[in-house]
Amino acid sequence: MKILIMNGSPHKGNTWRLTESVREMIHQRDKSIKFTEVHLMDVHLPFCTGCSACFRKGHQYCPHKEKIQPILDLIEENDAVIFSVSCFQGHLTGLMKNFTDHLAFLIHRPRYFHKKAMIISTTGGVSAKSTTKALAATIAGWGFNKSYQLPIVALSWNAYEPKQRDLQKAEKIAGNFYQDLKLKKVYPPSIGVLIPFNLFQAMCEPGKQENEFPTEDHNFWPKYSGMQYAPGIPLPVHKRLLGKLIYFIGKHLAKRMVISYKK
Ligand SMILES: Cc1cc2nc3c(=O)[nH]c(=O)nc-3n(C[C@H](O)[C@H](O)[C@H](O)COP(=O)(O)O)c2cc1C
Repeated sequence: MKILIMNGSPHKGNTWRLTESVREMIHQRDKSIKFTEVHLMDVHLPFCTGCSACFRKGHQYCPHKEKIQPILDLIEENDAVIFSVSCFQGHLTGLMKNFTDHLAFLIHRPRYFHKKAMIISTTGGVSAKSTTKALAATIAGWGFNKSYQLPIVALSWNAYEPKQRDLQKAEKIAGNFYQDLKLKKVYPPSIGVLIPFNLFQAMCEPGKQENEFPTEDHNFWPKYSGMQYAPGIPLPVHKRLLGKLIYFIGKHLAKRMVISYKK
């Protein structure tokens, strides 16, 4: 089993110390797990310029592809990702936000349907939960099957040492995360995930190429034709029906909408 740990904090501080404890908890459960670390601070990823090349032509046209592609390859190679991110002003660090901006095209062209995530954040006083929640919502759109969240109030700016109570909470969440990985458990998608999957698919139907600029989305969706969600992921009947309904709404909208990415 392979787990990628992504440090989205600009230093190895409170959140990283907690993340190291979580890594040790998982290692104790299974010593054969291979962990790989990416420290975004060391990647020196420039800001997303908003050129939309990833949406229009494909992410291989990203001006920062030399920095982004190796991280995408690592996500692909690993069974799960642990995201470690400090709470800055009630949200993700700029470093992590910039990284997720580079992958915004994944909401249009989701993947990672069998991958799990754990999201760890510490805060001085408030908003660790809104930080982990924000990232969980983003990566659900990318296709991640399930995210476990560990938001912790550190009551400290630099000197947090994980407290017994926090460690107990971390043990429980890390244990559930590990069990899912071990058992290769897969969960049905939430309705919030079904919506973009079916809308984007419907709006990229073959023949709907009259956009001013056809996009890479049109090349992506035919493989899911007739499916309400990715193969191999359980979909209860009511969600299947809902997916179809969203799809038909998407087809209707597509007739009226012309999306242009012209710059
Ligand atoms: C730029 C910055 C913004 C912060 N914003 C908040 C905040 O919105 N709410 C809060 O309670 N603490 C805030 N803090 C405190 C940190 O969230 C807290 O110290 C956290 O544990 C830092 O984690 P780190 O050492 O991994 O970076 C902020 C700290 C910094 C440096």
